[in-house]
Amino acid sequence: MNAITMQQVSKAYTPKKRAVDSLNITLEKGEVFGFLGPNGAGKTTTVKLLNGMLLPTEGNLSVFGLDPGKNPEQLHALAGVVTEHAQMYQHLTGLENLVFYGTLFGLGAGESRKRALHLLEQLELSEAGDQKLAAYSTGMRQRLSLARALIHRPQILFLDEPTSGLDPESAQNVHTMIRRLAKDQGITVFLCTHQLRYAQEICTRYGLMDEGRLIAEGTLKSLCTSVCPGITLKLKARNIPSHLPLRETKAMTYEADIRSEEEIPSLVRQIVEAGGEVYHVSAQLPTLEDIYFTLTRKEAAK
Ligand SMILES: Nc1ncnc2c1ncn2[C@@H]1O[C@H](COP(=O)(O)OP(=O)(O)O)[C@@H](O)[C@H]1O
Ligand SMILES: [Mg+2]
Repeated sequence: MNAITMQQVSKAYTPKKRAVDSLNITLEKGEVFGFLGPNGAGKTTTVKLLNGMLLPTEGNLSVFGLDPGKNPEQLHALAGVVTEHAQMYQHLTGLENLVFYGTLFGLGAGESRKRALHLLEQLELSEAGDQKLAAYSTGMRQRLSLARALIHRPQILFLDEPTSGLDPESAQNVHTMIRRLAKDQGITVFLCTHQLRYAQEICTRYGLMDEGRLIAEGTLKSLCTSVCPGITLKLKARNIPSHLPLRETKAMTYEADIRSEEEIPSLVRQIVEAGGEVYHVSAQLPTLEDIYFTLTRKEAAK
């Protein structure tokens, strides 16, 4: 059974405009799906549809075989959600909040407390566990919100910008934890994020949204091939004859456009045979950021 199936799903808040337009997405169990796109692209709306917080205007969707709109309770037993504005209780401590949600999800009081203490430790909130939420910083709230989402050991996590407002170190920790959850426990993750560098480290596949539509989808490798097929080769070298297909960008620094890494040895041989001296060669594969900007620029030009 797929973790997520969306078929031709659309959501229109107003009759004129579709916030999500004919979306088709399938996620297998254990995937870490990076859902990317500029503000207003429809990411949060998609997460809300998948959680039963909104009903689609058209189309079919299921999460572990459940229709989110019709089986919200069964779905919430399987799913953990971190939204941009997590609702928790200001007058309770971090620990009390987690225990409250644990028991709400049907864990016993003892089990809830055990899970809560474990998660507080994992998210580096042990010391803050006894402080009231009102005293928490944005970063602490975000991490507590992730702990809350995990309290009942969900099979799927929906994370809507879980690291916005976190300092780089906390963001790194949250990403490390997400990767560990996926790797060790096989949790499926649907991650909306703007942090492309982290996304590239932890996601197994990506979907890129723009104005409600999925404009590209695939692994980093498949997106590289279809979106940024070339590789830029950078060389630190001297005396490269001008007839070779390299451009000098600054002193002793050259670039060449190649199609695959297979072309590197013969290019280097040609340089050396022509009297050039090579000190360093590196192939710059496109990053997720390169792919993202290439695609969004293409859309903007349409
Ligand atoms: N409750 C709402 N009522 C009307 N329009 C909304 C509502 N929520 C979001 N939208 C609109 O839907 C579009 C998609 O928004 P959203 O899903 O929040 O995008 P993202 O999370 O990618 O930034 C935007 O144009 C936004 O203004
Ligand atoms: Mg959003």
